Order: sequence, then structure tokens, then C-alpha cells
Amino acid sequence: MSYSIPRRPRRNRQSAAIRALAQETTLSVNDLIYPMFIVEGSGVRSEVKSMPGIYRHSLDTLLEELKEVTDLGIKCIDLFPNYPEDKKDKYATESYREGTLYLDALKTIKDKFPDLALMTDVAMDPYSSDGHDGLVENGKILNDETLDILAKMAVAQARAGADILGPSDMMDGRVGFIREALDAEGFTDVSIMSYSVKYASAFYGPFRDALDSAPRFGDKKTYQMNPANVREALIEAELDYQEGADFLMVKPALAYLDVIKTLNQNFDLPIAAYNVSGEYAMIKAAAQNGWLDGDRAMLETLMSIRRAGAKIILTYFAKEFALLQA
Ligand code: PBG
Repeated sequence: MSYSIPRRPRRNRQSAAIRALAQETTLSVNDLIYPMFIVEGSGVRSEVKSMPGIYRHSLDTLLEELKEVTDLGIKCIDLFPNYPEDKKDKYATESYREGTLYLDALKTIKDKFPDLALMTDVAMDPYSSDGHDGLVENGKILNDETLDILAKMAVAQARAGADILGPSDMMDGRVGFIREALDAEGFTDVSIMSYSVKYASAFYGPFRDALDSAPRFGDKKTYQMNPANVREALIEAELDYQEGADFLMVKPALAYLDVIKTLNQNFDLPIAAYNVSGEYAMIKAAAQNGWLDGDRAMLETLMSIRRAGAKIILTYFAKEFALLQA
């Protein structure tokens, strides 16, 4: 055996210190946004059955939790409301009425945690008696009529203190429409993180449990994208870019790493990816059964999303990740 191996990649893996030097992708709590759920009442901390470790909080317990979350270095949360059926209607009026659970909570949070970046969801589903993201008429989702409602919701959220708005509805033209409404009201500093490329996915199931927001009929396929398409992702992203989005999001993350990569290669805005409820639930369920190491699976998953090209990850693992680093 006289062959001398000319290049030995293993040398760069030989110790923890050298592996750290050679590490291409990093992951920090600065990259993460923590989605959280608020519900009416007080003293409430009810675990979402399909999302172990994730709770629906009333405002008081949410504020306690936020103390912990911000102490861990998490800099942005994305808040979602759970409303009882009797607050829902066809026009999602509860989404922009003064003094609602959600809008009041945003004000209080902003007041108590001024340095926390507060992200909101702009879509009709948590407030809609139809459980759809847009206005329903005769079984159809109306695009342009929905825009007026989304703009009212967006302005109300900005007024309540939101820093980043997340239109998650997939109506055509909504980013530009919302941008114009915000600017007209003087909210030129409020950012938009558009759910640019949002697929009609099975992986949102646990989230819909958390909010009781599943569609009452049909599915979301006339507005959310076909999982088979990636060229179309470029069209959606281009439109949102032109319409003034500050961040472009891909959702879900794991089955769409190629889409994240494609967007990152084609756009200079920061790319975000939503590591959705079903993706969280799968790892949790397997870990609870002892079928895999939950912490390692979490780290590997989050790293894969960063490696694919997402700068930002919205993830239910944010707090757990921060705790592991602490
Ligand atoms: C609603 C919305 C959904 C999610 C975020 N915003 C659900 C849906 O579109 O049905 C999913 C988040 C998750 O699954 O973690 N517009």
C-alpha cells in the first residue's frame, strides 16, 4: 500500500474545535421567531394536545412567559389569537374592532416589552365563521373584497403596536394593498413579512387545533399553493417584492427546502421559513416515544432550514433551542 491520499477531508472533523472552525452554517437565537397563542380569560395555560410544550395563554400568563422568553434572548414573537365561536363572523369584524383580546394584548405586550419585535398574523381565519383566510360568498373565496378587510386588520394591528405584519392569507395583491393602507395612516415604519410562498399543506393540522380554525368546508387550495410547484414560487415572491415586502417567507419549511434555496438565490431580501406545527409535532411525538433524540433532531432540523438559505426561522422550538444554549 504505497498510495498516499492527497486530500483528507476527515482532518477538518478531527476535534470539536476544528469542526467548529470548519462549520459553514450557524444558528443563533437571533435567527428565530417564536409563535405563541393567546386565548381569553385569566390564569389560562392550556397545552395544545398535538403540540406538546406549546400552550394557549391568557394575557396574564403570556406576560409571565414573555419574561422568560425575552430573558432567554428571543427577540421576536409571532402572536396568534384563539377566539370562541361566538366572536367569529363572516366578515371577521373582530379582527379590527377596537378593544379586542388580540389588539389589547398587543398594546400591553408592546408597553411591557418595548424591545421585543412583535409580529402579527394578517388573515381572516381565526375570526371567520367559515374558517377561511378570505371572505366566502357562495362557497367561493373572494379576492378583492378580502383585501379591504385585511387592510383594516393590518392598520388596527399597527396601531396596537405591531412591528412586523405577516399576511398569511395568499390573496392576490394583498402586500401592496396593505402597504398602501399602512402608509396612508402614517405607519411607514411597520414591516411586512409576507407569507409569499405558502403551500396548501397537511402540516398545518396541529395549528388549526390550537386555534380551532379549521375551514368549515372545503380546503384552501384555491389560494394556498400546490405543493408540486416551484416555478410559481418565483412569481409569488416577485410580486411581493414589487409590492414592497420587507421579508419573504416560505411555508412549510422541511418539505420545501428546495423552495427556500430557490428564493434565497433569486432575491436579496432576507428569506424566512416557517417550521410549522406539524413539523414540530412529528419530532415531539417521536421523541416522546423514545424513537429519536428530540434535541438532536431539533438542532439538525433547524440547521437544515438555515443551510437551505433561510436567514429567519419561525419555530415552536425557539424557546427550547434558547434553553439548550443557555
Ligand atoms: C392562518 C395561518 C396558518 C398558519 C399560520 N397562519 C394556518 C393555515 O393557513 O391554515 C399555520 C402555522 C402552523 O401550522 O404552524 N392564516
